[in-house]
Amino acid sequence: MCGIVAYTGHREAFPIILKGLKRLEYRGYDSAGVALLNGDLSVYKKQGKVADLEKSVEGKNLNGNIGIGHTRWATHGEPNDLNAHPHYSQSGDLAIIHNGIIENYDSIRQELLNRGHQFTSETDTEVLIHFIENIQERSNTSLEEAVRLALQKVVGAYAIVVISRQNPKQLIAARKGSPLVIGIGKEEYFIASDATPIVEYTNEVVYLDDREIAVINNDGLSIKNIDSVPKTPYVQTIDMELEAIEKGGYEHFMLKEIFEQPKSIMASMLGRVVADKHRLHLGGLIEYFNRLMSADRIMIVACGTSWHAGLVAEYLFEELARVPVEVEYASEFRYRNPIIRENDVVIAISQSGETADTLAAIELAKSKGAIIFGVCNVVGASIPRATHAGAYIHAGPEIGVASTKAFTGQITVLTMMALMLAHRKGTISESKFREFLIELENIPAKVEKALKLNDQIKYISDIFKDARNFLYLGRGYNFPVALEGALKLKEISYIHAEGYPAAEMKHGPIALIDEEMPVVFIATADSSYEKVVSNIQEVKARRGQVIAIVTEGDEQIKNIADYVIEIPETIEALTPLISVIPLQLLSYHVAVMRGANVDQPRNLAKSVTVE
Ligand code: G6P
Repeated sequence: MCGIVAYTGHREAFPIILKGLKRLEYRGYDSAGVALLNGDLSVYKKQGKVADLEKSVEGKNLNGNIGIGHTRWATHGEPNDLNAHPHYSQSGDLAIIHNGIIENYDSIRQELLNRGHQFTSETDTEVLIHFIENIQERSNTSLEEAVRLALQKVVGAYAIVVISRQNPKQLIAARKGSPLVIGIGKEEYFIASDATPIVEYTNEVVYLDDREIAVINNDGLSIKNIDSVPKTPYVQTIDMELEAIEKGGYEHFMLKEIFEQPKSIMASMLGRVVADKHRLHLGGLIEYFNRLMSADRIMIVACGTSWHAGLVAEYLFEELARVPVEVEYASEFRYRNPIIRENDVVIAISQSGETADTLAAIELAKSKGAIIFGVCNVVGASIPRATHAGAYIHAGPEIGVASTKAFTGQITVLTMMALMLAHRKGTISESKFREFLIELENIPAKVEKALKLNDQIKYISDIFKDARNFLYLGRGYNFPVALEGALKLKEISYIHAEGYPAAEMKHGPIALIDEEMPVVFIATADSSYEKVVSNIQEVKARRGQVIAIVTEGDEQIKNIADYVIEIPETIEALTPLISVIPLQLLSYHVAVMRGANVDQPRNLAKSVTVE
């Protein structure tokens, strides 16, 4: 949450920062701001999107080779111009941008108020920069030391960058719990919340670790931890194409990412599934695979869409590898003193690899001795670095706030993990294993075929775009898909939607059904097909409007449902990879038709780095 960009070097800083903020807007878009050093320290900030900031500074002198920028997802203080970052210190000599929450800001604020400080915003961030300056003045020390001393007193999470009128060539950055990447160019440096604002200029990066402070000045980059112990920067080369973070002709990132799925699912399997050689190999699991083999129980922790992928994984691991699985919201797991035994294994699923609750759940499980496997998309993010082992999904950057290709990538990787475990444990026959591998290789083409339903789904979306509620029902592997379909619609079109296991309908939701209620059934030809058909009959008997996702060639449901969307057949356990596609498209088209901002839905952020 909140995007951070900073630049120092020989180029004009403003255009680089502005472009970077646009790339990071998925992290929050309540307000945006920039501070530039050019003799003076000037702050420009505006409520709303980065484009609003851009408009508001037209005609201003924006020269300067060093600056910081921020796009905000509000925590303390409503989204308005005053609460936007950057924030000045009391003297106006320092400015800061911040991602995270300073939990003890109120007591620090009181202390500073007693010392005569005046605040212009309601933010914890302004308190922090006043605090830094106050320490610098009282201890007559360097800015770097003042930042260090202030951060030692701070409780909470932060990624910050500070600039100072007194040190016009210096950027100071620090992190704890919120990500920061430093890009190293030729006599220029970039700092950002992720690598997307940087890749255009350099692919050499350093990921800052928790409790580290980086100083960039005429001498280059130096890093120390918060206890002043110097660290050697570990420079990594990242592999990210510029086109992967641009819309490439699509109207929205979300649509681009939905249509990328044949490719991204293939990328998740690349070099891992080789069906004709009967081979499945996930190298990142090997070192700790024995722990997975001997696990008495697998606990999955995740949030949002990743949690839905976790539910699919529960079915997969239990069915294929015969190991008990519990799926937990990371936010609940971490606060309920969970029982974690020696032979338990935890799998943490996260697209961004930065979700604060998931990260905290990992730390808790680790402290109790558990081995943690990660299933993440963003390479080098905090979660993959905090886990013992894992597998990236390699879906490429996902920028639309509503997760799509990450979901199918996660399921693909979790399927491979379950299959690898089942094969090694001998809980799956050779022929079944082989059948799965062959079918996995067929999935991208089947997803491609499902995407061809786009026009039909657009047509159906037009009919239901004004509905006030939606119900999504599915059973077995399609139950998590029903939850995911409902979440997608809620997130981007603001229509209330609920997902339920189809049989649970009778225990409540059926009371809601009348001729106004669209009910989306995921009713593919699987082991619970007949039961779902009965549920459809029950909805029709109450005059609900049924949209059914069925397997190609289905005749029975065609006669009952109002609208039928036919998807390619696959193995039951792989169905979610295909059945979710029409639901993603349905939510997309409904949202576009309602005039909603699909890529930046209100109040949401892609990377939730606060609790
Ligand atoms: C936010 C995003 C969701 C995502 C969830 C978990 O709510 O808007 O799309 O599913 O966080 O994020 P993660 O990065 O951990 O998968």
